[in-house]
Amino acid sequence: EEEATPQRLSWSFWGPFGSYDQAQLQRGFKVYREVCSACHSLHRVAFRNLSDPGGPAFTEGQVKALAAEYDVPGEPDDKGEVNPRKGRPADYFPLVFANDNAARAANNGAIPPDMSLLAKARGESPGFPGFIFDIFRQYQEGGPDYIHALITNGYLDEAKGEKPPEGVKVPDGAHYNKIFPAPHFIAMAKPISDGQVEYTDGTPQTVDQYTRDVAAFLMWAAEPKLEERKRTGFKVILFLVVLSGLLYFTKKRVWSAVG
Ligand code: HEM
Repeated sequence: EEEATPQRLSWSFWGPFGSYDQAQLQRGFKVYREVCSACHSLHRVAFRNLSDPGGPAFTEGQVKALAAEYDVPGEPDDKGEVNPRKGRPADYFPLVFANDNAARAANNGAIPPDMSLLAKARGESPGFPGFIFDIFRQYQEGGPDYIHALITNGYLDEAKGEKPPEGVKVPDGAHYNKIFPAPHFIAMAKPISDGQVEYTDGTPQTVDQYTRDVAAFLMWAAEPKLEERKRTGFKVILFLVVLSGLLYFTKKRVWSAVG
């Protein structure tokens, strides 16, 4: 059988000093918006987050215009009825479906998961002893690797005559995907194809590139404080190293008279 673990990519946010690539996050948001948002919500992210430092860093004007393109549930009126109104930067991305039943009805019985934390959902541990060498990557980039691999490498290429393994009967409405956990039946059809989203900066318009970009964007959505956290971690380690040195010499001095 074919190798079915996600390919490990090298992400800009990899490692102790990694940071997000702003242009990539902007492209990834475009892919989310034009493709994934038809089914997947992003309900824990507020429009205003898109202009936060360390993120896609859209301008406040762009965020205001974007928010206004969405209808969000308004505050209840005198009769207690909730009338939709235009989105504002402080609002959260609205839900795509009114409730789980509506979501299931539109998706062959499966619910498209909210994307706010999806990049953390199926991160894979490299196990022992891999994690020792991999300490900065473990879990953290597993999710984006998974999202990329699921869509780019997971589905069968029917044009090339690829078929599910011998004896495997794929249920109606499901799709065989070797990256999706066993039994590898996923309700989502391959959601994106080459050339579907237009990039204006010359970046290749391929499924591989789209899924890298959207996975990076989803990583940011799930971990918006990643850069800040890494900076703080570095300062803490530096402080501890200096403190250890000082304590060592202090100890030597204090105990120097004791035979
Ligand atoms: C599930 C990504 C577009 C419908 C998922 C999962 C991921 C994902 C990572 C979770 C797989 C898992 O549980 O491990 C994406 C991305 C998209 C996209 C990156 C855009 C490029 C869409 C669209 C639809 C859709 C447009 C609807 C037409 C679903 C459904 C599931 C799902 C129904 C649940 C599948 C199941 O549990 O069997 N998607 N998706 N997705 N997606 Fe998407």
